Amino acid sequence: MVNKKTTFNRQPVSQNITRVENLISKQDREHLMGHHPATFWFTGLSGSGKSTISLAFEKALIERGIKAFVLDGDNIRHGLNRDLGFSAEDRKENIRRISEVARLMNKAGIVVITAFISPTIADRASARKIITESGQNSYFNEVFINTPLEVCEQRDPKGLYQKARAGEIQNFTGISAPYEAPISPEIDLPTSELTIEQSVEKLLRSLSL
Ligand SMILES: Nc1ncnc2c1ncn2[C@@H]1O[C@H](COP(=O)(O)OP(=O)(O)OP(=O)(O)O)[C@@H](O)[C@H]1O
Ligand SMILES: [Mg+2]
Repeated sequence: MVNKKTTFNRQPVSQNITRVENLISKQDREHLMGHHPATFWFTGLSGSGKSTISLAFEKALIERGIKAFVLDGDNIRHGLNRDLGFSAEDRKENIRRISEVARLMNKAGIVVITAFISPTIADRASARKIITESGQNSYFNEVFINTPLEVCEQRDPKGLYQKARAGEIQNFTGISAPYEAPISPEIDLPTSELTIEQSVEKLLRSLSL
């Protein structure tokens, strides 16, 4: 049984823990990979296009020889975070664990693209803090998949809005739970105006790897 109170605490539960340092330097690892690591933290409503654009962006990066990997909401909730639901507390813990995974993958030299709704400004700020804290990676980009609720609801690729409107899903972001849009995201992708390809081009143009 997970003790939620201790899960949220960033301090380890045990005092008897000592860090080890890798023998490979950050520079040597980057040389090996051929580029800097980075995190592209996508945020947006359900149906905004996070999964669609992140997968297209990952493919474009791989085709350019950049080691990239998408962490997607639904996939992570099937495995690592399958014990978490959609309460405010569980959403927070969801984001904390993803951030720690992204941080580790960045340390391994990989470009990480995350595709989670991540609805609160506070949670995204905490993701930025966790991911950049180690000093191993200062390339954190908040990417706003900027699609109006009406468009997301019209797309409704998973039929979730219909269920949420019918009261069959509780705490549904945009309908019965809040979404706080980013105030100054590094990258803004208004998908009502951009095709998937144009969004990927805009992301590629932002690269300084
Ligand atoms: N310009 C566009 N950019 C991105 N997606 C678009 C665009 N136009 C239409 N779509 C469609 O919108 C849908 C977006 O769904 P997607 O699963 O990517 O959303 P999501 O943000 O990952 O949602 P969730 O949070 O539920 O996982 C897809 O069916 C996609 O084909
Ligand atoms: Mg998705």
